[in-house]
Formats: sequence, C-alpha cells, structure tokens
Amino acid sequence: MDEIVKKKKKSNVENQILVIFGSNGDLSKRKLIPAIFQLYIDNLLPEKFILLCAGSQEKSEKENREDVSETLNKFVPKTTAENPEALKGFLDVLYYKKVHNQTESDFVGLKEYIDGLSATLEIPKNIVYYFSIPPFLYEVVASNMVKCGLNTELDGWKRIIVEKPFGYSYDTAIDLDKKLRNGFNEEQIYRIDHYLGKETVQNIMVTRFSNGFFEPIWNRKYVDRVEITGAEKIGVGDRGGYYDTSGAMRDMIQNHLLQVLAVVAMEPPSVFDSESIRNESVKVLQSLRQIKPAQVSKYVVRGQYTETAVDDVVKKAYLQEKGVNPESTTETFVALKLFIDNWRWSEVPFYVRTGKNLPERVTEVVIHLKPAPHQLFKQRCMSQSTNMIILRINPDAGVAVDFGMKIPGAGYKVQNVNMAFHYSDLADKKISEAYERLLLDAMIGDSTLYARADAVKASWKFVDPILTAWKNDPSIPLYQYNCNTWGPKEVDSLFDEKFLKWRAPFQKFKTE
Ligand code: BG6
Repeated sequence: MDEIVKKKKKSNVENQILVIFGSNGDLSKRKLIPAIFQLYIDNLLPEKFILLCAGSQEKSEKENREDVSETLNKFVPKTTAENPEALKGFLDVLYYKKVHNQTESDFVGLKEYIDGLSATLEIPKNIVYYFSIPPFLYEVVASNMVKCGLNTELDGWKRIIVEKPFGYSYDTAIDLDKKLRNGFNEEQIYRIDHYLGKETVQNIMVTRFSNGFFEPIWNRKYVDRVEITGAEKIGVGDRGGYYDTSGAMRDMIQNHLLQVLAVVAMEPPSVFDSESIRNESVKVLQSLRQIKPAQVSKYVVRGQYTETAVDDVVKKAYLQEKGVNPESTTETFVALKLFIDNWRWSEVPFYVRTGKNLPERVTEVVIHLKPAPHQLFKQRCMSQSTNMIILRINPDAGVAVDFGMKIPGAGYKVQNVNMAFHYSDLADKKISEAYERLLLDAMIGDSTLYARADAVKASWKFVDPILTAWKNDPSIPLYQYNCNTWGPKEVDSLFDEKFLKWRAPFQKFKTE
C-alpha cells in the first residue's frame, strides 16, 4: 500500500477548491497537474480538497480523469508508477467543467457547478482560480467571473493566480492591473513568477541573511561587479508563435531575471514576512537606472540565433522556426549592463544575460569581489584576480566560493580553487519543483514569493524604453549568433575594461 494512504492527513491548509482555467493546455499538463499530484503524494493538500479542471473542450468527468492519468504517466512517469494508490486517490478529487472563456453563460454554469459540489461534498467556497490561459483572455475571464459572482468573498475567500506576462509593456501592464482590480483587490491577486518558487532563489536570501560573513562584503565597497546568467540550451521549439511576440527581454529579463536581481541586491527586511520582503525587493527595481534610448546600443546587446551545424545536426535559425515571422527582428538573446542607484550598489555594474540555443542550460549569479588592495603575487593574472561567490540556481544547484591558493612547490604561484556546496548533498531532502511550492503558498495565502503590482510596474518601467528604442530605431543592431555559442561576440563590449569577460559557466562549479 502507498505511503500516502498510510499517512494520516496532517496538512494545515484550509479546505478549499482549486479551479484551473485552461486545464487542457500545455502549462497545466506539464507543470500544474504534476505539481498538485506531488502535493497530494506529500500529504500537503487539505482534508477536503477538489481540483476542478475548467477547459474549453466538452468532456465527461470520466474522460477528464483518464486524460489526467495519461498526462501524469507522460510527464511524471516515475512518480506515477511509484505511487499507484495515490494516483487512484488523486483522480477521485478531480472534477471537470467545460468553460469557454469568452462565454458569460459558461461562468454561470461554473458557479452553479461549484455551488453544487460545495454543498454535496461539504467543502467551503474558499477558491483559488488559476489562469492557465493566454494573457489576452485574463481580462475577459476576470470580468465574466465578476459578473457571475465568482469573486465574492461572502461565502469564503477567493484568490486568482495569473501567469506572466503581466502586460506587454508598461502601459498595458498598468491597464491589465486596473482591469483585474475591478473585481479583485491586491491581496487576492497572485502574480506567479516561477523563478521565485525555485528553492535555490529563496536560498539566496538565506545565504545572505543567515550568515555573518557574506553580508559585510555584499556592497559597493567590496563587490566589483555582478553577473546574472539565465542560459538555455534549447531553441524556441514549438513556442515560436508566442515567443515571436515576446522575445528574450519580455520572456526572461522583465520578470525572472530582474526578480532574481532584486533578491540578490535587496536590503535585509526587518522581519521575514511577505510585505517586508516585497517592500525591500521592490525598492531595488525602483532604483534601476533608466537606460535612455540613445544609450541602448552602449548598454544592451541583442541577438538572434542563426542556422548552425552542431555535431553534424543542423539547428534551425530562429527565422525558420514554426510560428515565427521569417522577417522577425525578435531577439532570442539579450545581454545588458545596468546600475542600481542606491546607497549599497552605487556604480557597481550588474551584467545580465539570457538566450536560447546557448551551450548550456544554466542559471547562476556570480558576485565578483574586488581584488586585494595590494597585489603581492604578480603572476596572478588579471582574470583570476577577483574572488567570486557563485550562486548556482540550476543545474547542480548550490553555492561556491572561488579564491586563490598557492600551488605547492617553489615560489608563490597562485591558482584559483573553489569550495562548493551542492544542494544534492542534502541527500535526505528532495528539492520541490517551483510550482509545488508556489501553488501551496497561494493555497495557504502566503504571497511572499509572488510578484506585487508595484514590482511588476517597476520592472516594466526599466525595460520599456529599451523595447521602444529597438522598435523605433532600426540602426540599433540585432546581432546574429551561432547556436551553441554564448551569444554574439559583441557582448564583451559591455565591459569597460578590455581584459574582462563573461564567466563561462560550467555544469559543475569549476574555476576558469
Ligand atoms: C519561462 C519562459 O517563463 O521560463 C521560457 O517563458 C523559459 O521561455 C523558461 O524557457 C525557463 O524556465 P526554467 O525554470 O526552465 O529556467
């Protein structure tokens, strides 16, 4: 018999209903349903819980259960095979309702269905609604919900989770927010950024604020520069249609990487609660120095991958991908240099880069410390002369400190070595998927790891002038780069000093 049925329910999450709009979509299948299944296996769901799948297809309850079972077998085959009893139990908490997002009467039907389930199963109408739907539908779904009273809190709390992108630009983000606020207040809106759900991103706060030795040097006096890399080995795959309207700046920088930057650069909160933490991280985003249109070429490099033969396999150019306009100028790579105009980080450059079809899938933050004030060991070459603190988010999550050591033997030859902690060494602990953590937080009502409206607004305010300059000024280059390289060669021009280069990340924490 499975662990799950032996264990007594111990979750302290309030009894509730989770509704997923767009339950037949890719995100639901790949991420959400597997995450909820894992929460079920881990006994973290409340005693009384139902997952109500709301999709635009006509399906019976039985067909939906079969589909979910198939989804789990496909996307988490090992977990599903290892937990057959849990799978049966999980399928029992599933319900289905056809909802066409643009049809108001379907929402009336949804309300009646929820009322019925709540009465029969004696589940309070505490409801989380997950918008796993294309962003252009957020407004209409929210408004249909309001018209049918699906947002009322008279009979239980209501929360909505919205996926990125939150808007397409500064103005559209503000507009979207206004529309959502017609029926929901800020406390009810959970803007998900799955990077904040990553264990290793949260660990940046713990690394900084629970140790005495990092924080004293975490400032302009000791830090020379900071690099943040979010690199991906794959291209846009079958998401060309979406990606072509987005590009790397909107897809990765405006949200994920600026959120990571905020966690790296924020001040310690006075207490560790949602509002205090988010108050500090938003200040970082509000302090980003604006890059003016005329400065864009100096501070930002954009690129697009071209057709490349990699190990005898020809990788398509971005322009050949399905769903992409063959004349598209959408960037698949961005590197930028930015400054945070505040007391702690004054004039310390932050270099942020992201791209598709790069040599590795790696997300990491590298804090480069200033060299020792007086260099006694001249043979330590310039590129090795800084100590680094590497916060590896994935893969091979962990923290490494890189420093110079004497090579044994005559003289004083120095070599960089490192001390690394790998998360995998905490052998008895499984690292939860970001969506597991975030979904559970929303169910509990903890919004710490969700983006607040002011943070979203501040990050759009920073990226908007860059996007506008790219759109309006055709003289700003869009560089081509070969797949499996670290982007266009022009990225090194972002460094003022000729000898500086981006760190080439390796799978393991190795020194260059
Ligand atoms: C998504 C982007 O939000 O994040 C994708 O839309 C990107 O383009 C993905 O691939 C990266 O997430 P992760 O967790 O794989 O680093």
